[in-house]
Amino acid sequence: MSQFTEALNEQTAHEFAASQQYVAIAVWYDGQTLPQLARHFYRQAVEERNHAMIIVQYLLDARKTVTIPAVSEPRNEFADPVEPVRLALSQEERVTEMIERLAHQARKEGDLVGEQFLAWFLKEQLEEMASMSDLLRTVERAAETNILLAEAYLAREAVGDHGESPNAPPAAGGAL
Ligand SMILES: [Fe+2]
Ligand SMILES: [Fe+2]
Repeated sequence: MSQFTEALNEQTAHEFAASQQYVAIAVWYDGQTLPQLARHFYRQAVEERNHAMIIVQYLLDARKTVTIPAVSEPRNEFADPVEPVRLALSQEERVTEMIERLAHQARKEGDLVGEQFLAWFLKEQLEEMASMSDLLRTVERAAETNILLAEAYLAREAVGDHGESPNAPPAAGGAL
C-alpha cells in the first residue's frame, strides 16, 4: 500500500472521530437546553461522517484497500458553552493541516488523481474554519451577557453551508 493510501485510510478515522466529537458536543448542548447550538453540531456531525464516506468511495473507485477504523473517544465534558466551539475550531484547524499533508504526499508520489481529489477537501476546510470562527465569535460575545443571544442568532442566521455542497464528491452509500 502506498503511503498516500495508508494516510487516506487514516484520514477516515479522523473524519469519523470529528463526527463523534460533534455528536458529543451536540448532546452536551442539548443537555444544557441550548437547542440551536445542539442542532448546529448534530448537522456538523453528519457532514463529518459524509467526509469519511467520500474518502471511502474514492478508495473504492481507485481500487485501493479500504479499512473502516475504530474511533477515538470524544470529549464529553465542558466547563461552559464557549468551550465546545473552541474545541471544534482547533479540531478543524488540525484537520486542515492533515489534508494539506495528504495533498503533499499525493504530489510526492505523483498521484495526480489523488491530489485533485483533495482539492474539494481543502476548499471545504477553508469554509469550515471560517464558519467555526464566526460561530466562536458569536458565542463568545453572547457569553458576556446571555448565551441565549447565540441561540437567537443561530435561529435567524445560517452559519456554514448546512451540508449543502452540490459539488461534493460522491460518498459511499450516498451522502446523508
Ligand atoms: Fe471533515
Ligand atoms: Fe470539518
